[in-house]
Amino acid sequence: MPILSQRAAAADRTFDAVKRFYFSSRYGERRGDPTIADFTFGNPHEMPLEGLVAAIRDGAVPRDKDWFAYKTSEEEPQAFLAEAVGRELGLPFEPPDIALTAGAFGAISVAIRLLLDAGEEAIVSEPAWFCYEPMLLAADAVPRKVALRPPRFELDLDAIEAAIGPRTRLVIVNTPHNPTGRLYGREVLTALADRLERASSRIGRRIFVLSDEPYRRLRFDGRPFTSPAALYPWTLVSYSYGKVLLAPGQRLGYLAISPLMPAADRQALRDAMFASQMALGWTFPNAVMQYAVPRLEGLTIDVAALTRRRDVLSGALAGAGHAVLPPEGTFYLWARWAGDPARQWDALADRGVFVLPGDLMNAPEYFRISLTASDEMVERALPAFARAA
Ligand SMILES: Cc1ncc(COP(=O)(O)O)c(C=O)c1O
Repeated sequence: MPILSQRAAAADRTFDAVKRFYFSSRYGERRGDPTIADFTFGNPHEMPLEGLVAAIRDGAVPRDKDWFAYKTSEEEPQAFLAEAVGRELGLPFEPPDIALTAGAFGAISVAIRLLLDAGEEAIVSEPAWFCYEPMLLAADAVPRKVALRPPRFELDLDAIEAAIGPRTRLVIVNTPHNPTGRLYGREVLTALADRLERASSRIGRRIFVLSDEPYRRLRFDGRPFTSPAALYPWTLVSYSYGKVLLAPGQRLGYLAISPLMPAADRQALRDAMFASQMALGWTFPNAVMQYAVPRLEGLTIDVAALTRRRDVLSGALAGAGHAVLPPEGTFYLWARWAGDPARQWDALADRGVFVLPGDLMNAPEYFRISLTASDEMVERALPAFARAA
């Protein structure tokens, strides 16, 4: 008899390629080696933001006996975020709409638990962040995958609509989008809202949107941002500080209920959030990160530096014959290989340059570059990009 539950085995199978790449590929063997140029994952390659360090240091000093007692969604950060996120998104959040979570991972898993029963479906547009699928499978839910429309990786509303059936409960929208760097604008999101409204009536069940927005503050060229939460009332927003602070090891994020949601539905979700977070393994952030929330609000990694790296690397990649999709947000560059993907990836790896192969996101013709690499890594990689071509 197998030891693993079917859901654990299914999640593991789906994640196998990422695990192998991370731990046992040529990249896995060299990860952490200071002589490589590492463009794979969105990890820091420079010292953390000073403001973050100061906030953590300050929050680590206890001021009363309850300082490190169990923390749920604490009232102070909830109230702070209701106001701050409300201002940012132009929506009248109230404190109970905000569940403090251990990053966007925590928020997404709570959303899935709140909305999907076993066997029910969530629609995911691919290429996608490679954790939605294992997270859905680990909850006994069913991922329904539809393709984004290349070359600009537009949301394919016809494909989403065609994928909707009686078991559809959720559509996951990720904007700004990992891996393509696309920002989905008001027009397409409004059209999506209209279609979901009609489809919900058709199937006789409400279809929700999970708007996964951890890169929301990382946008290029002053581009505006529209949250689906402002356009479709049945939207939950997942957010993480891991990207904007480039400190994903310090777990902090939230799940926010759109205040446009009808009162009864909104209240049902508010009431159920605590028990879901508890039952999922206490997915609240640690005490220190909750204390830090107000001090983190104005902090961000250097978007000008990301822009500089974007421009330098876009030029180098284009010069080497790869087709780069100009990113509108996130800290990623998404490009189509000029030649045979495996051979080109190897040629870069031979020169100590590591990029994320698109086949990990079901897009084998493409690759992703994380602009969180240091300037020094970028400099070192430029001749390699040219020679590998
Ligand atoms: C689209 C997307 N959603 C959610 C997450 C999870 O973010 P965190 O690890 O900060 O919770 C990531 C991280 O890579 C991501 O790219």
